[in-house]
Amino acid sequence: MSVRDQIESLIEAGKSNAEIVAELGTGERYVRRVRAGLQAGLPPSVEGAPVAPKAPKPRISVTATMGATVRPGIPAHVLAMGGLADLVLAAIKGKPATLEALAEKLNASADNIGAALEGLRGKGVRVHETAAGWGLDPRPMQPAWLNGAAQTFVSNDDNTFSFGACGDQHYGSKYCRPEVVEALYDVYQEQGIKTVFNTGNWIDGEARFNTYDLDVHGMDAQCRYLARHFPRREGITTYAVAGDDHEGWYSQREGVDIGRYAERAFQDEGRSDWVNLGYMEAPVRLVNAHTGKESILSVVHPGGGSSYALSYTMQKLIESLDGGEKPAVLLAGHYHKLWSGNVRNVWVMQTGTAQDQTPFMRKKKLEAHVGGGWLRLVQDPATGAIVRCQVELLRYFNRGYYQNRWSHSGPVNLLNRAP
Ligand SMILES: [Fe+2]
Repeated sequence: MSVRDQIESLIEAGKSNAEIVAELGTGERYVRRVRAGLQAGLPPSVEGAPVAPKAPKPRISVTATMGATVRPGIPAHVLAMGGLADLVLAAIKGKPATLEALAEKLNASADNIGAALEGLRGKGVRVHETAAGWGLDPRPMQPAWLNGAAQTFVSNDDNTFSFGACGDQHYGSKYCRPEVVEALYDVYQEQGIKTVFNTGNWIDGEARFNTYDLDVHGMDAQCRYLARHFPRREGITTYAVAGDDHEGWYSQREGVDIGRYAERAFQDEGRSDWVNLGYMEAPVRLVNAHTGKESILSVVHPGGGSSYALSYTMQKLIESLDGGEKPAVLLAGHYHKLWSGNVRNVWVMQTGTAQDQTPFMRKKKLEAHVGGGWLRLVQDPATGAIVRCQVELLRYFNRGYYQNRWSHSGPVNLLNRAP
């Protein structure tokens, strides 16, 4: 059942917008839009469907600790967004403010404002203090590689590493193929894989041109949706970089470390199987169990457009790296392509996507390689070099293929169409 259908069912069951937001993790604006469409007797997806009038701005009067007693009068949707912490966030978004000014504005104690700021920071919101007071860090996010490798993986006894590699799932998009991600994780489980690297774009984010592509609206809603729907398999942990596009749009606009924010959303769902690798490009140490010699694996969400040839973007990316900075293995997302090869001694895999071709990609004449893969590396214990690399690419076809629409031996089965 689509998210829209679920919202309609809950509306018909008499649930309030706040209850639906809490239950489905979708955006409140979207719920209002579906409700307005239902009330007007229009299909909710119809462009221009009326939106319920905005509730009047509450006169905010917070009197107690974060998440505790709040005077009646604050609408449920404000509380559902996180109470005082969200009010503080809204207050410092425009310009910084001191603790005292915030306390006065929000009618809360300075201690509670401090706790709310700490809570925001813990979620990944980049609050910092300057001479002007507390505000959002306006500086762009720095790529994770600047801080060196944060994760270390030790080889198996036979000097091998096996791990899954996928990315560009775009959860929250209508074109996301969650069943493909589930199928990939089934394969990982069959192969006894414990580690999966995700090359970014795990959510679709929001920009002007994907407005009509989304099932889930809002940063928090998309992260919670991801945490609820991303495959969970016993013993498998996913290590994910954040792209500077899609989920990264939130980082650019909202002053949020979106990788950390998503990791926190998983934790809130009781999940410790999702680990944030950082922004854009993360080095990972591949350490030999017997000798301690090591190589670097790079998990990257690059930028720029696709090229005329599958290998070309990877060739240029590796060509751009200085001597001595090249990793032994590079996993790359962004282009939605499946490809593997060896460029200037770097083993490379492009990790595909779990999103069908979008209207944007169709306009740009870009093919979507729906799938992912897994790798088995052999490390030389004497030097730490990765001397062998086996890549298995898994390709999934469009939905028509699975409905037996395209048959190699029988008649073509056309999809049912409206009369
Ligand atoms: Fe992507």
